[in-house]
Amino acid sequence: MKQKIMVTGGCGYIGSHTIIALIESGKYDVISVDSCVRSTPETMSRVEKITGVKVKNYPVDVCDKAAFFKVFEENPDVTGIIHFAAYKAVGESVEQPLMYYRNNLGTMMNVLEACEKFGVKHLLFSSSAAVYGDIEKLPVNEQTPMGLANCPYAHTKQICEGMIQSELEANKAMDALILRYFNPVGAHPTGLNGELSPDKPNNLIPVIMHVASGVLPQMTVFGTDYNTRDGSCIRDYLHVCDIADAHVKGMDYLVEGRYSKRCEIFNLGSGNGLSVLEMLDAAEKVVGKKLNYVLGDRRPGDIPAIYADSTRANELLGWHCRYDVTDMMESAWKWERFINS
Ligand code: WQD
Repeated sequence: MKQKIMVTGGCGYIGSHTIIALIESGKYDVISVDSCVRSTPETMSRVEKITGVKVKNYPVDVCDKAAFFKVFEENPDVTGIIHFAAYKAVGESVEQPLMYYRNNLGTMMNVLEACEKFGVKHLLFSSSAAVYGDIEKLPVNEQTPMGLANCPYAHTKQICEGMIQSELEANKAMDALILRYFNPVGAHPTGLNGELSPDKPNNLIPVIMHVASGVLPQMTVFGTDYNTRDGSCIRDYLHVCDIADAHVKGMDYLVEGRYSKRCEIFNLGSGNGLSVLEMLDAAEKVVGKKLNYVLGDRRPGDIPAIYADSTRANELLGWHCRYDVTDMMESAWKWERFINS
């Protein structure tokens, strides 16, 4: 008998790739809850094209408790929730902090209350390496203490992690995993699903791909005077399909009760730090041309370097990255040409 999983934010970038992986595992039925205020319901038709399965999306704001709880009344057999629905732009969170606290904490509150009210046993939470703040000692493992949040977005992730830990103390019927992503990039290998970024995206790979396709005339490398091997910032990039696979393995881990504590934390990173200039070099090899970029000033809030030690996820979840930086760039480039075709 398949478990039924609710994916909040299922029409989003990581949410939709996770739905594809859940379906392809053959173990889970899936429903999505997504207001599509930052995504599009058309994503579900792309999921259907890839998997052959029609996934129902409930166009509901998870902050709207009455509407959100109604979904459980219609789906009393939901046994797990994977909670993605949150705002996630670092810069925007600095400009509009209260919108971030209201949305990211409000959705978390309603998800936890729903677990208690409707007896949902398993929760996977989409957290971020941003909870570590500025890092001295690299690589980062799960024992690395949370640092001072660099922005309200990161702070909401820290608070949400604390809310989950507190709720599990009170609600003994639940178990949870907190998954801290490093930098998810790339698109589905078919090129039929990927990140729908605005024309002026913030994140590195969508910017690179927009420059490669001509949507953007030029990009800037934000800072080449950092204390790193080539002066540009180092990050731990990993393929979105590897992140999606980690969610299937994480839900399996909870469903099979393989955990030693009812709330465990896992870093999801490749363990391989790459600089901005190295990413540009990898992109130029894939797109087959020189990209138009200039070397500019640092971006406020950036940290020089961060990359993961994901040994725990490797050993306990049996999760390993299958894709390398070339796969990330090839899939991103395929998706960029698909959406601009
Ligand atoms: C990566 C590097 C930039 C654009 C953030 C969040 C993280 C996650 C991913 C949600 C940095 C540089 C970028 C450009 C550049 N968010 N860059 N020129 O900031 O590491 O992580 O987004 O899940 O939680 O913290 O990702 O892709 O924005 O930047 O030089 O035009 O690329 O300065 O060094 P970041 P990013």
